[in-house]
Amino acid sequence: MIKIYIFIIQNISMKTNMNKNILLGITGGIAAYKSANICSLLKKNGYNVKVVMTKNATEIITPLTLETLSKNRVAMNMWAEKSNIDVEHINLADWADLVLIAPATYNIIGKVANGIADDMLSTVISASCAPTYFALAMNVNMYNNPILKDNIKKLEGYGYNFIDADSGQLACDWIAKGRLKKETDIVDIINNYFESLEREIFLDGKNILITAGPTEEAIDPIRYLSNRSTGKMGYALAAASVKLGANVTLISGPTNLDIPNGVEFISVKSADDMYKAVFTKFEKMDIAIGCAAVADYRMKEYSPSKIKKNDGDLVFELTRNPDILMEMGRRKNKQILIGFAAESDNLIENAIKKLEKKNLNLIIANSTNAFGNDNNEVFFIDKEKNVLELPKMTKNDLAFKILETLK
Ligand code: C5P
Repeated sequence: MIKIYIFIIQNISMKTNMNKNILLGITGGIAAYKSANICSLLKKNGYNVKVVMTKNATEIITPLTLETLSKNRVAMNMWAEKSNIDVEHINLADWADLVLIAPATYNIIGKVANGIADDMLSTVISASCAPTYFALAMNVNMYNNPILKDNIKKLEGYGYNFIDADSGQLACDWIAKGRLKKETDIVDIINNYFESLEREIFLDGKNILITAGPTEEAIDPIRYLSNRSTGKMGYALAAASVKLGANVTLISGPTNLDIPNGVEFISVKSADDMYKAVFTKFEKMDIAIGCAAVADYRMKEYSPSKIKKNDGDLVFELTRNPDILMEMGRRKNKQILIGFAAESDNLIENAIKKLEKKNLNLIIANSTNAFGNDNNEVFFIDKEKNVLELPKMTKNDLAFKILETLK
């Protein structure tokens, strides 16, 4: 009998963010108008927010807007009259659990990198010991200026964090890099920071192998068979596993993704290459997750020279590739094995068949729509055929949910 459970997700970030203090610094880039949305999103996520604005920022957005949204007085002037005799810049610096400068202009980065503290915001930053994030936003030529690059490098060396600008239409009409990252993405980065502080490092010292991406099966020197897998799920699993303390080996087919920090990375092309790489590593593993969209077939005969076109049809004969995950299931002794099933029809029934056939501990069933998407909606199915339906979430969040099953 198949038992289906619906997974009710708690608002975890809301819980962890309660009573955390964010000091939002706003500088005078045109993207300053977006800081109102950032302030509002931070409040909705449960943070206390106090705002410091530079004089230039007040030319773009009024302090009243930020005061109304943050429910706190905006600090701008070091010499403003105060209702008490506290040293305000030090109070603000000490109050903050995190400082977020959004938007962060070329100017504020230059000032902080060179030890200049000549207004309220630069002084608060210089006096704060809290983690500090600069969300870059500026004209593309300023963004590419080597002076900015040097300043960022220097500040990174001191432990400051940068939220890189996105590409898109800039206020100066250029379509280029320099646009402030989406407000929701900035708030996600802040949420991730606080969540990481509370994360239990439950995979500490565990060896985990993850396969990711598509495979490429060569037809001739310039052509190949492949599929639409982007590798996002596997790379998210690898990055999350590192954060949970695991020693991660990521074996990946060709993708356009950045290699996650801290993994042992093995790049492969074909299913055969992946098979060989997996079984040089498998024995030492505690956990293996087969997330790659491995091609089931390859050319029966590879053509060493480019196949010439003729007038008629061209017929290829294909032969079966090894099923890497099934072989892991056959060889496993101590390893916990997790696989994926992407199906167009009869998702649960087919996934259960795969779970049994491949001797898995858990299978993640998703529709074929998951390919290339940043979000995924999946079912977890365990050996007892318990089916757990999860709500739609990002692949990054899903990666943590999958790994939590290993607790
Ligand atoms: O049988 P199917 O390819 O649909 O099963 C999907 C699961 O099996 C995925 O976890 C995938 O990584 C793995 N797989 C594999 N080797 C193959 C085909 C699929 O490891 N040749």
